[in-house]
Amino acid sequence: MPILIVATSNPGKLQEMQAYLTDPALSGWELKLKPAELEIEETGATFLANACLKAAQVAQALGEWAIADDSGLSVDALNGAPGLYSARYADTDQARIARLLTELETADNRRACFTCAVAVARPDGSIAIQTEGICEGEILKSTQGSGGFGYDPVFYVPEHQMTFAEMPPELKHEVSHRGRAFQALLPELKQIKG
Ligand code: IMP
Repeated sequence: MPILIVATSNPGKLQEMQAYLTDPALSGWELKLKPAELEIEETGATFLANACLKAAQVAQALGEWAIADDSGLSVDALNGAPGLYSARYADTDQARIARLLTELETADNRRACFTCAVAVARPDGSIAIQTEGICEGEILKSTQGSGGFGYDPVFYVPEHQMTFAEMPPELKHEVSHRGRAFQALLPELKQIKG
């Protein structure tokens, strides 16, 4: 059975990725976590470039198939920030949310979107699949809900009238940027396995 290395070390993302990766489409792969000591710098200029470079470098370093994602929040009134720097916007989830709310204090336009790019690399580091998912929403003025991770408690999805942090995991799984990127990826991954 081919091995697929999951190249992430963010526990919140890992938990969500594991749920997608238990899809029956992947029953032919043996999933393994990237060794913690293998750190890849995110130097790409886009989410997709970062997902590809993480997957490629992990695959090459270990000589196995690898899957990686890169994701972040882009806020209209902040010209797309925090964007690629979503994880580095402050030190903790709470501080990241606090900074975001401060920066948006006087903003009327609260529109934002999450983007997730996913890439799968072959053992030689070449990219076999790349997909992207987007989820549009609004940034609330205070937190709502306690589920999820990261910016979830302030990211409101009008279509479902709740924040990501209020959604049952199955709903976030379905409608989120990560959910959409994985929905596009899984059939392609299944084909590679045959
Ligand atoms: P990276 O993909 O590891 O660079 O991190 C992306 C950062 O964006 C995370 O650390 C979170 O702060 C944020 N983020 C990405 N996806 C989500 C999500 O589904 N909910 C909340 N925050 C997210």
